[in-house]
Amino acid sequence: MNILVTGCAGFIGSWICQKLLNNNDYKVIGIDNFDPYYPKEIKLDNMKDFENNSNFSFLEIDITDTNAMNNLFENNSIDLVIHLAAKAGVRSSVLHPLDYDRVNTFGTLNILDCMKKYGTKKMIFASSSSVYGDIEKTKFTEDMTDLKPLSVYAQSKKSAEEYIGLYCRQYGLNAVCFRFFTVYGEKQRPDLAICKFTRQIKNDLTLTMYGDGSTYRDYTHVEDITNGILSAINYNKTPFEIINLGSENPVKLSDLIAMLEDIIGKKANIEIKPIPGEDMKRTYADTSKAKELLGYIPKIDFKTGLEDYVKSYDN
Ligand SMILES: NC(=O)c1ccc[n+]([C@@H]2O[C@H](COP(=O)([O-])OP(=O)(O)OC[C@H]3O[C@@H](n4cnc5c(N)ncnc54)[C@H](O)[C@@H]3O)[C@@H](O)[C@H]2O)c1
Repeated sequence: MNILVTGCAGFIGSWICQKLLNNNDYKVIGIDNFDPYYPKEIKLDNMKDFENNSNFSFLEIDITDTNAMNNLFENNSIDLVIHLAAKAGVRSSVLHPLDYDRVNTFGTLNILDCMKKYGTKKMIFASSSSVYGDIEKTKFTEDMTDLKPLSVYAQSKKSAEEYIGLYCRQYGLNAVCFRFFTVYGEKQRPDLAICKFTRQIKNDLTLTMYGDGSTYRDYTHVEDITNGILSAINYNKTPFEIINLGSENPVKLSDLIAMLEDIIGKKANIEIKPIPGEDMKRTYADTSKAKELLGYIPKIDFKTGLEDYVKSYDN
């Protein structure tokens, strides 16, 4: 099977490429444009364990480049797209709304249109828990309809999901849109809390805590997320699904900081700032649909995952 992985040099993209390439049945074409949101050196390093694998080829392509994407699909027979490329980061999307919409929404539409033209039938898409916005119900379920995203990033993911649904209904594509809940683990993006806090505590730097520490995130280990993605490759019971991938274990921000202090063996130097309006107060996945359709059961408990992360962190 020939699989196109977009965003292959990123955190989750490099994990999924490695897992796909552990299986000789898959040939992987990875594309990435080394978006400057965080350094290219980190992204090159993410790919170093598989870049020379004979079943892997890399192309530096921007998913919004219509000509380049058409050439890619014309010159390669692609069976499946695992679409992870995006401008990530909720807070940064407030500063660069047009860029976020162009890459995350138009970029997705560009891929869908190539799939339609060149006969690629299936997409697995990286959506986000952020599409839910601040909602009162305890757990977030995929059948909730009154979603109110709080940022352009979140809205761009919701719009992309809707375009994917449209192409499935109208043009016979198949897709699984996964709503990932805050992903962590080795190679985690440097802007995300666990990576940032680890760096700050280890190096005696000031750690900014937004709010009084009472927000919650349903942190999910990248091992569980990527196993969830793999389990969707052969899913074919329905043409379009939106599925949460979380761990059903929301962790309070102040507890996360205390756990990191404990693992690292140092106290954090905390400054408190108001919670930005685009930040959700809590996330909490209901993963029963993932379990029912894909047999998904998250396996990495948070304390173990966090200890492993700190061990893997080396600067
Ligand atoms: N990490 C999380 O907690 C999380 C949570 C929810 C959803 N997601 C989604 O999962 C996906 C992967 O996230 P990640 O944490 O690995 O982020 P990441 O930034 O590490 O990876 C995204 C990759 O996409 C690439 N990219 C950006 N714009 C591109 C473009 N125009 N053309 C080609 N490549 C481009 C970047 O260079 C980067 O390597 C993203 O779609 C993200 O929105 C992540």
